[in-house]
Amino acid sequence: MAKIQSILVCGAGTMGAGIAQLSAVSGYKTILFDLNADMLTRAEEQIGAQLKKMEEKGIISVEASSAAFGNILFTTDLSLCKADLIIEAIVENAAIKKDLFNKLATLNGRETVYASNTSSISINSLAEGFIYPSQFAGMHFFNPAPIMKLVEVIQGEQSSSAVIDILVSVAKEMKKTAVRCNDAPGFIVNRVARHFYLEAMYMVEKEYLTIAEADAIMEAAGFKMGPFALMDLIGLDINYGVSNIVWEALQKPKRLTPSTLQKEKVEAGDLGKKTGKGFYNYL
Ligand SMILES: NC(=O)c1ccc[n+]([C@@H]2O[C@H](COP(=O)([O-])OP(=O)(O)OC[C@H]3O[C@@H](n4cnc5c(N)ncnc54)[C@H](O)[C@@H]3O)[C@@H](O)[C@H]2O)c1
Repeated sequence: MAKIQSILVCGAGTMGAGIAQLSAVSGYKTILFDLNADMLTRAEEQIGAQLKKMEEKGIISVEASSAAFGNILFTTDLSLCKADLIIEAIVENAAIKKDLFNKLATLNGRETVYASNTSSISINSLAEGFIYPSQFAGMHFFNPAPIMKLVEVIQGEQSSSAVIDILVSVAKEMKKTAVRCNDAPGFIVNRVARHFYLEAMYMVEKEYLTIAEADAIMEAAGFKMGPFALMDLIGLDINYGVSNIVWEALQKPKRLTPSTLQKEKVEAGDLGKKTGKGFYNYL
């Protein structure tokens, strides 16, 4: 398989914008695709502002920053979505993801590498019915993608080892630490971290402590962010979705029961930083 030169990132939300920035800064010709033009405008502004900050901090030169920005095509036009590697970061819904991958396969063919940034949907289930299953795998970035070092590269039952090697080498080109893992509920980090979120929410539900106290205590204990501030950054819909998927995939153990406190927030549309309100208020 030829070296990856172009990357298509699908979804210009929290993750997609960050991955597109990373891709462009790493020298890949980058396309950022979203159905929603407003999300693309937001992503374009956000990437512009982040690159400016990197310039000011001396992380990249003015020339490199403008070259990176010039490397990105922002588009709502699916017919322009052709690349050597596709990283999908759209809504966490298996049917919608599969539908997009099928359309992209028709446009791109069998040489392209197809990767999903899903937090929790099984890679094997996404590959089911996909025309090029050996070209398909997971590439799971963490939030914020330009900063967090880890990338989980998830090998589905049908992913070829050549494709896994390509994803690991792209992650390295992006200066990330790539960890290979098998397709298991929550992969590695999201599985281990479930209790960090869930226990904190159970304790608040039972009024053992407040949200602010829980965050302050965990931060004083050495965590970079407390569980509630982190859930607001991730997006409560995303985090709640992961909890549900991991819980169901493991046959609904009581210890992993999703939180009603979080469910209520999601149903009210209070999804965290991205909507201006979650466990905290950002407006
Ligand atoms: N938020 C996190 O911390 C985080 C971390 C790692 C992985 N993920 C995963 O990344 C993916 C995206 O999460 P996010 O937090 O960026 O979501 P988000 O809600 O911020 O953004 C999703 C974007 O996808 C777009 N979209 C929806 N359907 C589309 C379609 N059919 N075609 C093109 N664009 C479409 C939406 O318009 C939106 O801009 C999910 O699979 C999630 O599980 C999220």
